[in-house]
Amino acid sequence: MFRKLVEFAAIFQALGVGAETACLSNAISSSQRKNLTANGESYPIGLWINNWDASFVTTATLHILIEELLGYNVIETGVGPGTTNAFYASKQDLRMCFLIILVCLSRVTHNHINIEQWPEDYAAVWAEIVTKYPSSAPVDLGSMGYDGAISTYFARSILAESYFQDGAVLQHYRSWNTSWSQNEKYFASLASIDKSLLHPCNETQLMASSQNEGYLKFTGDMDGLRQQPNGDLVAYCPDGYWWLSPACRHNASRCVPYVTAALGWWGLDDMMQKVTAYDMPVAVGVSRRWEEFALQVKCLFYWWIPDATFLDLAPVDITFPPYDFNAYINGDKRTAAASSAVTKIVSQDLSSLAPNVVELVRKKDVMDMMQEWRKSGDTTRDVAFGLYNTNLEDFTSIRDDLTFLECRACVSGRYSKQMQDDIGITYECRPCEPGTSQPSGAALACEPCQHGEYQNNSGSQSCNRCDIGQYQDQKGSPLCFSCPEGGTTLGFGSISRADCGCPAGYINVEGNASQLSCAECGEGFDCPALSTRDSLISGSSALGDQFVPVVLENFYSTPEAPLAAYRCVGEFRCPGGTPGSCRSSLQGTACTDCPQGQTWGEAR
Ligand SMILES: *[C@@H]1O[C@H](CO)[C@@H](O)[C@H](O)[C@H]1NC(C)=O
Ligand SMILES: *[C@@H]1O[C@H](CO)[C@@H](O)[C@H](O)[C@H]1NC(C)=O
Ligand SMILES: *[C@@H]1O[C@H](CO)[C@@H](O)[C@H](O)[C@H]1NC(C)=O
Ligand SMILES: *[C@@H]1O[C@H](CO)[C@@H](O)[C@H](O)[C@H]1NC(C)=O
Ligand SMILES: *[C@@H]1O[C@H](CO)[C@@H](O)[C@H](O)[C@H]1NC(C)=O
Ligand SMILES: *[C@@H]1O[C@H](CO)[C@@H](O)[C@H](O)[C@H]1NC(C)=O
Repeated sequence: MFRKLVEFAAIFQALGVGAETACLSNAISSSQRKNLTANGESYPIGLWINNWDASFVTTATLHILIEELLGYNVIETGVGPGTTNAFYASKQDLRMCFLIILVCLSRVTHNHINIEQWPEDYAAVWAEIVTKYPSSAPVDLGSMGYDGAISTYFARSILAESYFQDGAVLQHYRSWNTSWSQNEKYFASLASIDKSLLHPCNETQLMASSQNEGYLKFTGDMDGLRQQPNGDLVAYCPDGYWWLSPACRHNASRCVPYVTAALGWWGLDDMMQKVTAYDMPVAVGVSRRWEEFALQVKCLFYWWIPDATFLDLAPVDITFPPYDFNAYINGDKRTAAASSAVTKIVSQDLSSLAPNVVELVRKKDVMDMMQEWRKSGDTTRDVAFGLYNTNLEDFTSIRDDLTFLECRACVSGRYSKQMQDDIGITYECRPCEPGTSQPSGAALACEPCQHGEYQNNSGSQSCNRCDIGQYQDQKGSPLCFSCPEGGTTLGFGSISRADCGCPAGYINVEGNASQLSCAECGEGFDCPALSTRDSLISGSSALGDQFVPVVLENFYSTPEAPLAAYRCVGEFRCPGGTPGSCRSSLQGTACTDCPQGQTWGEAR
């Protein structure tokens, strides 16, 4: 793919971007273009490029549009090998802080825009950045307008050949069951493949123990793994280069070759689980030069769309059972991979430095046009030119809309903060800190979460109520406190520790709510939720009558030991209620005594 980048670089040179030749009619000429200015520095807008085709192409068009339509100088930065690099790149200056090192001296970022992001697999990293660095994390501007899909592909010519020879339908995983198919005859044999094109297994993710543990868990195939002396599980490659699925392990000449790249960081365990689960005869390997390998060798290969790398093969993919989210999050990868949102992010400061550029990137229709262009396969220049001239009205209105766009209200979840820099006072939309939220746009401050609420994310439009069993007695909190052990609350959003109590069927034998010790409510008592020893004795509760535990009818307990019940003999004596209650004038434990001066007589 690096080769492709060089080609694009060549296009830019031929175009003379930044020099005389413009793509668009009415272009703002290079001498009239401006830089961003902040902290006394003057610098162009940085477009961070990811290392894949769709990124090269879409970035190149955006480059032209920002320069010629909006009149900013642009430089292309990167290339970053993956989506997470861009998270950090547009957060801080990569020239000063290397990749994942976050603390850095630079006061401004020189990387502002990254489009063609595949963030789904990196949701945790993204969440961490946004939470930990609310004031410098990049901003997600949403979908590019299309989804990406990762799958197992092969050349369309192989599909045609197998279909005409045998009527085989290789696109469906069930056609790969080794018991009735002989798909190996349409592909290169393992023996014919030069091993120098492959990384040995021991240099790749086939050695990754945690991944292999997942494989073992869902396939039970210990035979395909080896345990190292240190306990690690590694995939077993009999010849050092190919891992063989159970379906062809006994006879490697039945195996169909499958390759991935990036040292096997792409899709290895995914493929191992699938080929074993569906009895597919497949040898899994990691190519050194993936593009060349899959173009030269008839094989199955890891790929994704949108991407141009293998367009010449007109690849088709194998359909697996539909994506199962719950299975995937548990590590079970036997269903198809999810289609992924492809998104665009910008640095946080860009909305104050060049709001019209942010609007341009935000405009989904522009991205749709880019997508059209990508499909047509023309050069960047041709397409940008065609794009502009066939959508002249749209672009003119974007330009008119955007050129004068200088002050904009902050969206909900953010507030406007006054900033002083070398030029003067300006305002920046900052995300609300954890513990606060902002439901309306155009706000000058975020509102603290109320009692009984929390918000652990930044940039939120609302706070959440504390869960059952938790409470929050302070405003503006990023979290809720749990009730003391064994305790719970009646509902969501509890505002004080006094709301914690024992669940129904239990009673707090400490006597009050601030000290919880829940004991099971014995025979002879009825204990609603939040019962306490005090409310049993007094027959009342500050929370209301429905929270008062009682002694049941025909049972009796003494006020001194209210939790030890006696069963009363005879139906009329013990009315229940509070400890020590007897009917009429009876008294004593279990109401067996008459008061002094009276004796047992006829019941009235
Ligand atoms: C823009 O920034 C670049 C790089 O910092 C600088 O070389 C160039 O002179 C600046 N151009 C203008 C018009 O300020
Ligand atoms: C990895 O495997 C190759 C080929 O089997 C072998 O030549 C090499 O010595 C191995 N390297 C390590 C570090 O085990
Ligand atoms: C292995 O598979 C090949 C190709 O299907 C077949 O020709 C050969 O007879 C098999 N060998 C054994 C030992 O089964
Ligand atoms: C493959 O075919 C065999 C024989 O019909 C069958 O027993 C087996 O269950 C099939 N495998 C799968 C994964 O469907
Ligand atoms: C926020 O809290 C919720 C609920 O407790 C939890 O699921 C989520 O992971 C938390 N998010 C972060 C970023 O801590
Ligand atoms: C609750 O009970 C504990 C232990 O009996 C006591 O230390 C505490 O002062 C009591 N609190 C209230 C508010 O009555």
